[in-house]
Amino acid sequence: MQINVRHGDVTQAQTPALVVNLFQGVTRPGGATGAADHALGGAISQLIRDGEIKGKAGEITLIHTLGKMPAARVVVAGLGPAEKFDAQVVRQVCGDVVRYLRRRGIKQAVTIAHGAGIGGLGAKASGQAIAEGAILGLYRFRHHFSNAGNGEPEGELEELTTLDRDAARVPDLEAGVRVGQVMAEATCLARDMVNHPANVMTPTEMAQVAERVAQGSGLEFRALDRPQMAELGMGALLGVAQGSQEPPKLIVLEYVGDPANPSNNLGLLGKGITFDSGGLSLKTPEGMERMKGDMAGGAAVIAAMQIIAKLQPRINVTGLVTATENMPSGTAQRPGDVVRAMNGKTIEVVNTDAEGRLVLADAICYARRLGLTRLVDVATLTGAMVTTLGKACTGLMSNNQALAEQVIVAGRNSGEQFWQLPMLEEYKELIRSDVADMKNSGGRQAGSITAAWLLVQFAGDVPWVHLDIAGTATAERDKGHLVKGPTGAPARTLAQLAVNLAGV
Ligand code: BES
Ligand code: MN
Ligand code: ZN
Repeated sequence: MQINVRHGDVTQAQTPALVVNLFQGVTRPGGATGAADHALGGAISQLIRDGEIKGKAGEITLIHTLGKMPAARVVVAGLGPAEKFDAQVVRQVCGDVVRYLRRRGIKQAVTIAHGAGIGGLGAKASGQAIAEGAILGLYRFRHHFSNAGNGEPEGELEELTTLDRDAARVPDLEAGVRVGQVMAEATCLARDMVNHPANVMTPTEMAQVAERVAQGSGLEFRALDRPQMAELGMGALLGVAQGSQEPPKLIVLEYVGDPANPSNNLGLLGKGITFDSGGLSLKTPEGMERMKGDMAGGAAVIAAMQIIAKLQPRINVTGLVTATENMPSGTAQRPGDVVRAMNGKTIEVVNTDAEGRLVLADAICYARRLGLTRLVDVATLTGAMVTTLGKACTGLMSNNQALAEQVIVAGRNSGEQFWQLPMLEEYKELIRSDVADMKNSGGRQAGSITAAWLLVQFAGDVPWVHLDIAGTATAERDKGHLVKGPTGAPARTLAQLAVNLAGV
């Protein structure tokens, strides 16, 4: 979809659909909505009086103009209460509106810059949220349908023009739209990677996607293979990979934005289990059904690296993705095996289905070897996370409160929510082993936190944040900028974190 910004008057806009808005409880619309209302002979205020338009969030009303305006239709989008309004509301409203337009076969639309005027958002934030909401909201994955398959979908909304009557706001709107496009397009790439089945999105294919991203945006790319992992002593990662015929890859993407200050850096680490069968601790069929998506953390890291490469913040960022399958076979690791990670620490593998923490343990060691000074890992790590927080927010665990809060703030900027869980010493006892330095599962209690306790023993005193996206990696239904299926989260937050860290 093409997104434009233009200076002009809504009452003059020639378009199949003009999108205006209304805060909840407003009875006399002002600004652009008021101008449209006037041109329509008071139709919008009449619908408000009749109680058909309330301005509730998610409410969409279609009015045919029947020649009263150059626009063929006016779409009134509810913004909800003014006191709850922010960029996230714009993202949500735009996502809902673009799908509404597409369902009606509308190919072009003009929208006012929600919130740039009386909403108090600022033009850049408004432009970014509009682009993100529109691109993410229209996302769909039809790659594996044959032409005859499953019916042809309606056409695409091809062009969205943001119109502002204040010419002075146009440059900021344009800048915001550009950032939003970069953010959203990369997020869609992450969604594609997660949507692809595991027979397509193998570790080798993930590495190829990362290499294409690097070539397209000027990142350094390399991928360690099995012998190189062995050379480095990555026994925890190799233990998981040894059951699979697919060659594992440790994908490395490097962005150098502050060459004069190598220690001004950030490491983004992603779990890239391209299929999690559970290994010999085999999952049930229901439990396995969605496990092609167990590389969502890795996909988000690759996407974030693409955003960072395009936005060019003054900071050095390294993305690491541990891509491998977790399979049962004659070569698979056994429950009870003891593996030795790159830093020499040993782990008793009591459950081969707790594989994410094993591959991340070696990724964290490798990140430290590379001299990374701040680490954020992202993983669909525990089913317990879905039980604890559901899908409303990502669970966050950390050994460093400052970095934890920087992630939470970046999430607030991006409209992605995080909630911190306590790393109490009591939980550490649950993964004490009788035969090794630790065991890889603490059983049923506090499953997400015990997983983090394993990871932190590899991070040591390096500031580290762990994001468990088992719940937030996928959405159950279309809603705002999210569509049913993979969300691409938290790619935008990771990139925003790099931008924010570079800014201070
Ligand atoms: N990939 C799963 C976690 C998961 C479950 C993500 C459901 C998304 C939805 C992970 O590798 C896993 O299997 N974790 C186990 C850990 C347990 C064996 C300690 C779990 O959560 O059951
Ligand atoms: Mn597992
Ligand atoms: Zn897993």
